[in-house]
Amino acid sequence: RPDVLTIDVVVHIVHANDEQDLSEEQIDSQIAVLNEDFRAANPDIKNVPTVWQGLVGDARIEFRRASLDPDGNPTTGVTRRRTDVRAFSSNDAVKFAAQGAADAWPADRYLNIWVCRLSGGLLGYAQFPGGPADTDGVVITYTGFGTTGTASAPFDLGRTTTHEIGHWLNLFHIGGDDGTGCSGSDFVSDTPNQAGQNFGTPTFPSITCNNGPNGDMWMNFMDYTDDVAMYMFTQGQVLRVEACLAGPRQGLLV
Ligand code: ARG
Ligand code: ZN
Ligand code: CA
Repeated sequence: RPDVLTIDVVVHIVHANDEQDLSEEQIDSQIAVLNEDFRAANPDIKNVPTVWQGLVGDARIEFRRASLDPDGNPTTGVTRRRTDVRAFSSNDAVKFAAQGAADAWPADRYLNIWVCRLSGGLLGYAQFPGGPADTDGVVITYTGFGTTGTASAPFDLGRTTTHEIGHWLNLFHIGGDDGTGCSGSDFVSDTPNQAGQNFGTPTFPSITCNNGPNGDMWMNFMDYTDDVAMYMFTQGQVLRVEACLAGPRQGLLV
C-alpha cells in the first residue's frame, strides 16, 4: 500500500448529563492524538529506548471526522444522544438506539467510536475484525477520551483510543493474554515475549520471561501502562494492521 489511508470516523457521544456531552474541542483533541500515534509522529516517540528505535512502526493511517453521513448528507462526524443509562458496560448496549444509545454507522465505511460513561473502571473496549457490523468499533469512557475537558490523568493523553483502535485493527496485547505466563503470543515477531501486562510508568529495562537485557516493551500502545508511558507500535504490528486492512477490513481502503 503506497499511500496513507484515510479512515472516516463517526464519534457517537452518548451522554447522561451535560458534563458527558463532550465539546467539539475535546473530540478534535482525540483525533489529533490518533493522527500522531498512527503515523509515529507523536512527540514522545523520542522516549523509545535506543535499542528499539529501529523497530518503530508508522501505520500510515490518518483519521478524519466523516463529512458525509450514511445517506450522503453533510455531517460533522459526531452524533449526540442524551440517555437515561447512568453507566454502560462491555455488553454493547451503547451501540443501539433502542437501548437508549446510538446505532452504528455502516462498519465497512466508518470507524465507529462511542464515548459514554463506562462502569467499573473500564477505560474502553473494542471489537476485533470479523464480528457483526452493528457492534463494530470501539467504546471509550468519557474520562479517557481526548486530552482536554473531562479527560483525566493518568488516562488523559488519548491513548485509550489508540489502544482500542489497535485491537480493532487486529492487534493483541503484547503480553499474549495468558495471564502472567510466558507462552501466550501476540503473533507479532518483533515485540519481545513478556509475562503479563505492565501498569503505571515502569522503568526500562523491566525483565520477565528471560527477555533480558532489554525486557518488556512496556511503552508499546498494546501494553496497559499509563497514557504517558505508551508511545509506540512496532513494524511487526504494522504488518498485522496491513494484513487486516487488506483482508477483513478491506472495505476501508476504497
Ligand atoms: N481495555 C483497557 C482497559 O480498559 C484499555 C487500556 C488502555 N490503557 C491506557 N493507558 N489508556 O483497561
Ligand atoms: Zn486492550
Ligand atoms: Ca505472556
